[in-house]
Amino acid sequence: MRANVHSLAVFAVGVSAIVSEDGTGRLPAMGWASWNEYACDINETVFLRVGEVLVDLGLKDLGYEYVNIDDCWSDKMKRRDENGRIMPNATMFPRGIKGLTDDILAMGLKMGIHSDSGTGTCLKYEGSLYHEKVDAETFAEWGIDYLKYDNCNVPEEWEDDYPYWPDRPDLFVEPPPRYDYSISKNAIRYRRMRDPLLSLNRTIQFSMCIWGGAPVERWGNETGHSWRMYGDITPLWGGRDPTGWGVVAMLNQAAMHWNDTGFWGHNDWDMLEVGNGELTYEESRSHFALWATMKTPLIIGTRLEGIKDEILAILENKELIAFNQDTVYDDSVMPFNLDGPIPETTANITRTVSHYVGTSVAGIHVFLLNGDDEDGEMSIEFSEVPGLESSKTTTFIVHDMWTGEDFGLFTSSFTVDVKSHDTATLRFTTSCGRHPNPEWMPSQTQPDEILRKSAR
Ligand code: GAL
Repeated sequence: MRANVHSLAVFAVGVSAIVSEDGTGRLPAMGWASWNEYACDINETVFLRVGEVLVDLGLKDLGYEYVNIDDCWSDKMKRRDENGRIMPNATMFPRGIKGLTDDILAMGLKMGIHSDSGTGTCLKYEGSLYHEKVDAETFAEWGIDYLKYDNCNVPEEWEDDYPYWPDRPDLFVEPPPRYDYSISKNAIRYRRMRDPLLSLNRTIQFSMCIWGGAPVERWGNETGHSWRMYGDITPLWGGRDPTGWGVVAMLNQAAMHWNDTGFWGHNDWDMLEVGNGELTYEESRSHFALWATMKTPLIIGTRLEGIKDEILAILENKELIAFNQDTVYDDSVMPFNLDGPIPETTANITRTVSHYVGTSVAGIHVFLLNGDDEDGEMSIEFSEVPGLESSKTTTFIVHDMWTGEDFGLFTSSFTVDVKSHDTATLRFTTSCGRHPNPEWMPSQTQPDEILRKSAR
């Protein structure tokens, strides 16, 4: 008999989520994926080396466990065998995906793969629409632990009646009042893969690559473990390029959705570009710190062989990883003290949301992002910081999560030098080193309180 390893659970707040006995998906996933750095230039050796390096560098021990094959792994010509099973490209993967997966699992890691909820991936490799059951079963037989499920090549009859894509306002069609997007065709197509995955005798993390479509944050929890919230990321700070959006555009969008994430279901702001393209050291630090504290999956997207020490140190920051993987507090950081409305995401956006606050078992944390093109000082008054303002004390030990050292004991306010595009990562505890306000979570702070502060 098959073990019933996962179920749809309904929480007290009325949200249903996929809950698995082995804990899969409770916390944001951590791992590595091929797309950002290798695109289609992949083969079995790439993934075997990644597995070895994850182990050798100690990244596996820090929690980076998934080795994810992104697009382009299947046989574009033959597509499926006589049993309807997707065929791996035999040149790239001479031992099939199973041969590679066996080796990756033997390293104590997990294996991820990519498919698509349409008839083909974005690069027109085989998709899973109408083959969901056989594909889920095939992936399970190969030993796959993570499925990234994309949204390209959707036949016209499967397109939404009321399209909504956050980065394509031109395509928006107003739905009827109180329209429930969980009945949209997007939602149905993703459920068509969720159901066979749930009936497997293997837990496969279901990562929905749906670019924020059909407001997925409203029905994502009952459908998968994480959901992409926007178009593709690209290794730029501000603005965008033909392949995607820079970090600032993502951050501004994320600021509006900080409260749509929690245990068992996570917003996904896309794979990390830390170490890639034009991002400076400071920009890479901000990117990682805010992804970690927004509780987005931490999927490394850079070449690991020959990685620079300073980039590796960012990815290895234990305190930021601990915030991301906290087993007690599940809230993302929350923006506060906004000086004006959250900037709308546009191609030329350069302005950033600069103040974020959150909580973890280690204390209350404040993140100060210097979006200016100049280095500068950033200050906070403790009476204006949610979580600190309701603490019993006004004197705190302020700790630097980058260096792992304390700045010292401060009363009422704190000022720090922050380089252009860098982020100060601060942890606050009481003068005895205790959590200053264990009862407080960002989601208990009412949105109108945030707005009231922003209006000042
Ligand atoms: C996009 C997806 C990217 C990558 C690419 C592969 O839709 O957002 O992360 O997977 O497809 O073609």
